[in-house]
Parts: sequence; C-alpha cells; structure tokens
Amino acid sequence: MESLIPQKPIYVFQLPVRLWHWSLVLAIVILIPTGYIIGKPWHSLDGDTTFLFYMGYTRLVHYSAGFVLLIGLLWRMAYTFIGNRHSREIFIIPFWNKAWRQDLIADIRWYLFLDSSPRPHLGHNPLAQLGMGACVGLIVLMILTGFGMYVLGSETAILQPFRLVLDLVYELGGNMQTLRSLHRLGMLLLIAFILVHLYMVVREEIMGRTTIVSTIINGFRYMRSGKGG
Ligand code: HEM
Repeated sequence: MESLIPQKPIYVFQLPVRLWHWSLVLAIVILIPTGYIIGKPWHSLDGDTTFLFYMGYTRLVHYSAGFVLLIGLLWRMAYTFIGNRHSREIFIIPFWNKAWRQDLIADIRWYLFLDSSPRPHLGHNPLAQLGMGACVGLIVLMILTGFGMYVLGSETAILQPFRLVLDLVYELGGNMQTLRSLHRLGMLLLIAFILVHLYMVVREEIMGRTTIVSTIINGFRYMRSGKGG
C-alpha cells in the first residue's frame, strides 16, 4: 500500500466546494443561536417593542442565514455536474461497490482503535462520505421545515412550493407544531453531527495519514508516509 501513496500534494477540494463548506459553517453558527432564541425567547426587555424590535431582528438574521443555507446548497448541488469526482462524493454513496464497503469496515475499525493504521484516501473516506451524506440530509430537512414555516408568512412566488411541506405534514397526521418540532429536532441532530465531525477531523489530523484541516482551507491533500498513529 505504501507505493500507492503519492508524494506530491493532490488538489482535492476545488474553490466552490471550499467556499460552500465555509459559508455553511457561517450560516449554521448564526442559525443555531438565533433559532434557539426564537424557540426559547429571553426575558422581556423594558421598552417599546416597536423600537427594540429584538425578536424581529433575531428572526431577520435567522431568515437571512436560512437563505444563505438554501442558495449555498443549490449552488453546491449544481457544482457536482462540473466539479471534479470528489465534488460528487457526498451526494452519491456507492453502497453497491464491494471495495467501498470493505473500506468502510476498515474505517470503522480504525476509528474504534481496532486497527493501528488507516487506509489512505484522496477524497473523503467511506465513513466520512456517509457522515457528510447524512449532514446534507439534515440540511435538507432544516431547509424544508424552515421554509415550510417561513412561507406561511411570505407571498414571494418562488417560495410558494414550500407550502407543500405543511400539506405533507398534515397528510401524515401532523400539524404546524409537528413541523416546528421537526425543525428543532433537526437542530439537535445537527449539533450532535458537528461535535462528532470536529472530533473525527481533529483525530484524523493528528493520527491519520493525510492532511485534513489544511485541505478544506487550501484544497490540497498531502499524504504522510509511514504508519499512522
Ligand atoms: C441549520 C439550520 C437551522 C437551524 C439550526 C434552525 C433552528 C431553529 C430553531 C431552534 C427554531 C425554533 C423552533 C421552535 O419553535 O422551537 C427555528 C425557528 C424557525 N426557523 Fe430555523 N433553523 C435552521 C434553518 C432555517 C431555515 C433554512 C429557515 C428558512 C427561512 C428557517 C426558518 C425558521 C422559521 C420560519 C422559524 C419559526 C420562527 C417563528 O416561529 O417565529 N430556519 N429555527
């Protein structure tokens, strides 16, 4: 396997992919606290609400970041058609590929400390691919439930299809509160994802055979020779 390790850095994450990643970080860092405040507002403030407009501003910031999330995802999905093969990795998970499934098991063993060295990967390793795929699923859930609520107070024509989300929830026996609860549950799952993601990235950066953090900043993957760990 050692001979497979390229000694030159490989350009893995193209600029649009990296921009999307960091716009996502920014949007989520804003959406979580503002969403939390919307769901559990702080104590009343002294003064006229018209002038304070405290919840109004909170919602304005939440919705603005929500639009960044939506536009970012659409842009990222469109880019998979013209980007390199790594740009598609988190959208197409090759369960049908036996070698991929074996790599996945090897990755799980590595993260469980059962193996002493990881297999090198240029793009995402199979476990990361699964994790990122799940993260995209969560973002879609947040967009659907978020815009499903937002559109009830908006006349903007292009957003009207999001009214189907509440229709679907009613169809499944739920109601507006179900939509809100799903939105909040999605946030909790997203927080859990972020914690695991950060742990795995830092662990891989220290113990793995490839660079991770610098790769999502400058796009280049450097392989380290020798055994990991
Ligand atoms: C990472 C993504 C997001 C997170 C973590 C998040 C979080 C939250 C939370 C925790 C709430 C309060 C729910 C409750 O009542 O308990 C909320 C409300 C809301 N969010 Fe989000 N949200 C996200 C994305 C979005 C998006 C993309 C939109 C679309 C514009 C959106 C629109 C809304 C709306 C309309 C409400 C209800 C506001 C109200 O009741 O006044 N959210 N969000």
